[in-house]
Amino acid sequence: MKDSNFLKENNGRVFWHPMTSPDDSIKNPPKIITTSNGVRISDIDGQEVVDAVGGLWNVNLGYSCAPVKDAIAAQLERLPYYSTFRGSSNDAAIELAFELGEFFAPDGVTRAFFTSGGSDSVETALRLARQYHKLRGESGRVKFLSLKKGYHGTHFGGASVNGNANFRTAYEPLMPGCHHIPAPYTYRNPFNESDPEKLAHLCVAALEDEIAFQGAGTIAAMIMEPILGAGGVIPPHKSFAPMVADVCKRNGILLITDEVITAYGRTGAWSGARLWGIKPDMMCTAKAITNGYFPFGALMIGEQMQEVFENNPAAKIGHGYTYSGHPVGAAAALACLAETKRLNVVENAAARGDQLYQGCLALQEKYDIIGDVRGGHGLMTAIEMVSDRATKAPIDAGSAMKVQEAAYQSGAMVRVSGPNLILSPPLVLTEADATAILDALDAGFAAL
Ligand SMILES: Cc1ncc(COP(=O)(O)O)c(C=O)c1O
Repeated sequence: MKDSNFLKENNGRVFWHPMTSPDDSIKNPPKIITTSNGVRISDIDGQEVVDAVGGLWNVNLGYSCAPVKDAIAAQLERLPYYSTFRGSSNDAAIELAFELGEFFAPDGVTRAFFTSGGSDSVETALRLARQYHKLRGESGRVKFLSLKKGYHGTHFGGASVNGNANFRTAYEPLMPGCHHIPAPYTYRNPFNESDPEKLAHLCVAALEDEIAFQGAGTIAAMIMEPILGAGGVIPPHKSFAPMVADVCKRNGILLITDEVITAYGRTGAWSGARLWGIKPDMMCTAKAITNGYFPFGALMIGEQMQEVFENNPAAKIGHGYTYSGHPVGAAAALACLAETKRLNVVENAAARGDQLYQGCLALQEKYDIIGDVRGGHGLMTAIEMVSDRATKAPIDAGSAMKVQEAAYQSGAMVRVSGPNLILSPPLVLTEADATAILDALDAGFAAL
């Protein structure tokens, strides 16, 4: 490894980072993480902290998962790569498709299309949705619906269904025919409705209104996160997803659950679909499929689509990635899935998630800067910061960063996204680790 001065100087000089400006990388240099141990990471200056971000919502099993590292090493030795495009396959990818089919059978999605990450999984879902309708002779169904504040990655398709201007404006014009529905976000919504159940009904009414306005026969699919993640951890009322699923079904619209964050246990259920008791037509997964040990994703596909695509010579999938079904990624995913099941991470996600959520609610009693605390479903929690509780005026970026930095100096890496502090730690977190995160947050708010 090059020395610390070289790395610090060149990080800002020659390395453009995602989701920040090159200028900001120089003025506010990032933490340079060099080592890890369990759920802890250490930076180049030797500061060790609990990783309350979990990498980027993906390192569910922590950083020291030996079976995954061993599986990757063994696969690299045996077969580091082979394509799965027409005419070839590899054993690890086949085995993984089988295992995922079993794992997601309760959600009704049992076929896998492999990708290199979440944005690819979303892109694949949008494409297959259009193709599905074309194959059935409903070629007019080309539009997409999604939720405001939803995040669906950064490809042009995903950005087009994205519900946050921050990820859209610089890249417009995006794909035509994408329309956004109000999110079930009780703290701020156009209906001024703070009751989650009433708000769920209002949002579903808005969905039905949009479908009527666009014409159901023009809409291919609705894509949504079971719990909005990057948009600030927004869990809907439990009635919301079933109502959306019902509206989609009645209108011949495919339902895609974007579970890049929620699949594999993060919500305290094995998938977001299972959390809410719905069966999507497609489910986008990535992130914890390999826990950050290898870039990988899987789009899972349900029965209705299987009937149209399988045993149909006209259903050629003209889409795929060089690294679709990469054997090393597949081997990593197989090991991750086995560990995820063996450790029954959903149980710990629910228990530690509750501890963090209750702890954050207690912090809200103490600090006026905390406007809203959202969570209660596994290890996804957000603290929305405000400069004035009465008016809900959002906190300024400088103050939010100050809280983050003070929390880091006090022992936890937390992530600021807009006005939100997002907590998405590994699912193998212990009670003591969760307490350490809460203590660091307490110190962070106290510093402000
Ligand atoms: C719900 C959701 N969809 C898609 C993506 C994009 O995934 P990736 O960054 O792996 O492309 C993300 C990433 O955070 C996500 O949270």
